Amino acid sequence: MSKSRRLYVKSYGCQMNAYDSTRMADTMAREGYSETATPDDADLIILNTCHIREKAAEKVYSELGRVRALKQQAAAEGRKVLVAVAGCVAQAEGEEIIRRAPTVDIVVGPQSLHRLPALAARALNGEAVVETEFPPEEKFAHLAPPTVAATRKRGASAFVTVQEGCDKFCTFCVVPYTRGMEVSRPVERIAEEVARLADAGVRDVTLIGQNVNAYHGLGRNGRSYSLADLFARISEIDGIARLRYMTSHPRDMGDDLIAAHRDLDKLMPYLHLPVQSGSDRVLAAMNRGHGREEYFGIIERMRIARPDAAITSDFIVGFPGETDEDFEATMNLVERVRFAMAFSFKYSPRPGTPAAGLADQVPEPVKTERLARLQAMIDRQMQAFNESYVSHRVDVLLEKPGRREGQLSGKSPYMQQVLVQAPAHMIGSIAKVRVTGLGTHTLFGELTAAAEQRAPSPAMHAPGGA
Ligand code: 5AD
Ligand code: SF4
Repeated sequence: MSKSRRLYVKSYGCQMNAYDSTRMADTMAREGYSETATPDDADLIILNTCHIREKAAEKVYSELGRVRALKQQAAAEGRKVLVAVAGCVAQAEGEEIIRRAPTVDIVVGPQSLHRLPALAARALNGEAVVETEFPPEEKFAHLAPPTVAATRKRGASAFVTVQEGCDKFCTFCVVPYTRGMEVSRPVERIAEEVARLADAGVRDVTLIGQNVNAYHGLGRNGRSYSLADLFARISEIDGIARLRYMTSHPRDMGDDLIAAHRDLDKLMPYLHLPVQSGSDRVLAAMNRGHGREEYFGIIERMRIARPDAAITSDFIVGFPGETDEDFEATMNLVERVRFAMAFSFKYSPRPGTPAAGLADQVPEPVKTERLARLQAMIDRQMQAFNESYVSHRVDVLLEKPGRREGQLSGKSPYMQQVLVQAPAHMIGSIAKVRVTGLGTHTLFGELTAAAEQRAPSPAMHAPGGA
């Protein structure tokens, strides 16, 4: 085997997985593996899987079919390829994966990723390894920190996991079973990682966690820091211009976090706050721990603190027992809140979760019809939100080349993608852009005059108001 080995990671699902994938790549870089963009020439193929919705496991098995062909071809050429399944499907299925797909060498759960180098060494000796225990040590302490070179390649925005796991046990959700109990990383370790990213040119950092606003990490003087405290600390780091977080739970939306949106310039006016349903009855059956009025209350307080805040959410339609009236309550909630964007899903029974065993499952055609209605309303709201920016000026973090010649693609404070004609050397800078038009999911804009760009930041435009 050659010294320089190649690693291909395919990431499914949430940002947490995307982050885990980069950290696995960083960790394997220390073992001499460099990342490749295709599985064809890889010596180690990792599928970092997601189990949260529909048929995730089936998708992984069909991908493994393709991987097996690659592995056989490589073997014919005298090259040994290792195949690893990581993430939540690995956690949920364990040994079953190797039984069904013997091409797999390593099965590793999300809490054991730091053991990958040792597992790979064992697998190279011909052993099939399954590691899905929740080990007591903190994985982050053992994963390699992001290197400057790797970060430069990855660009101006980055994720940092600050909290993992969940003990809320919503009755539809597998996360508490696959990611384990809530754990928060210590403040200074997060600060170090963010400072390192800043050194490598990252400007926009999203703190992530399954329940990120339940964050309660150890801070200076042994004090427990809330997410708002953590933001105050991270705001001190030079070079970082924008801070975001996801995903939050309404139950943990503290007043200090809302106040941080008013007080910290770097904290972006953006809140992803899944509500799942607008019906109190369904919310109770989901074990969400709050009702619709509480949700409205949070949104109202948020809009007082940051009138221009973009609010986004997740919805599940067709939860067991959801009636037409329950669904109308969801439609009504959406109408009242006016979202900037939202994800909506049909309920899918996840094995082992309480809701999967409920008798009154909603028929598929009903779910399909409800989902279409909800998505149509959300699309209209997204369009209206984006329209409210036309002819206005927004600060755009220019991230990468756009599809057209001379075009750059960037992000507004509200997570909208903005396409602008701008020179490539502006990548990584924040430009003042006047929005000139709309695509389906993007804004088009032009750089405003240089003199204007140096002017102090104008007051934010408040689309729609509260
Ligand atoms: N069925 C459908 N959607 C689900 N989600 C989580 N579990 C399920 C499920 N069993 C959705 C929720 C969550 C998002 C990440 O995925 O809306 O917020
Ligand atoms: Fe799943 Fe509920 Fe925890 Fe979110 S809060 S991860 S939906 S159990």
